[in-house]
Amino acid sequence: MSPTPATMTLEQAIKTRRSVRGYLDKEVPQETLNAIFELAQLAPSNCNVQPWHVFVASGELKSKLRDQMVRNVMNGVAFNPDYEYSDTFVGEYRERQVACAMELYNAMGIERGDKPARAKAMLRNFEMFDAPHVVFIGMDKAFGVSVAIDVGMYMQNLMLAMTAHGVACCPQGTMRYFPDLVREAFDVSPDIRILLGISFGYEDPAVAANNTRVGRAALERAVQFRR
Ligand SMILES: Cc1cc2nc3c(=O)[nH]c(=O)nc-3n(C[C@H](O)[C@H](O)[C@H](O)COP(=O)(O)O)c2cc1C
Repeated sequence: MSPTPATMTLEQAIKTRRSVRGYLDKEVPQETLNAIFELAQLAPSNCNVQPWHVFVASGELKSKLRDQMVRNVMNGVAFNPDYEYSDTFVGEYRERQVACAMELYNAMGIERGDKPARAKAMLRNFEMFDAPHVVFIGMDKAFGVSVAIDVGMYMQNLMLAMTAHGVACCPQGTMRYFPDLVREAFDVSPDIRILLGISFGYEDPAVAANNTRVGRAALERAVQFRR
């Protein structure tokens, strides 16, 4: 029997969560959404300022945002993220970035040099991987890196809460590229900057991309224990 939020241990939730890139056409009930977002809300933040601003799109609104984003990408509309982001990694970071992409392309049966297939795979981001829901997460423009830490903790709480409720998700930096669409959809003040989005719903195990499994560096590469 699959674990429920009541029975899933933290260790199981951490180990079960992974980025899912293909979903069933089935919405998460509002009751479950409430339970998940209530749990996420318990994230710690400096001075308890709770800086996250959270916008969940479902149904027609989600479809509209997906269509707008796909159209923008197809028409070559320039990305307009609220925050600078560089994906030109070097050294060990570059090695991991390439390994991660190769793992995904292998799972999807895409050859390294097959540019059209890679472009199609990239477009899947803007199709939100057919997820029935997408949540956008932002914070006030007054805040910088130190407060973004709090928002990151909220995000991990959110993803683990989803996992415990049997809901799959994929954090997506690609959801930060057209923030004005999000502000318009939710009547958000221009003071709120969009950091990223997370597509979520129930995993479709038949989608090849969902066979992707990425590992992690050995503990000693990341952590020093000294006394
Ligand atoms: C901040 C952030 C942004 C990400 N952006 C994307 C994205 O735009 N598209 C995508 O397919 N995966 C994205 N991912 C998923 C990562 O590729 C994934 O977390 C990483 O490869 C580890 O795999 P796992 O989540 O399955 O453990 C993002 C993850 C994070 C944390």
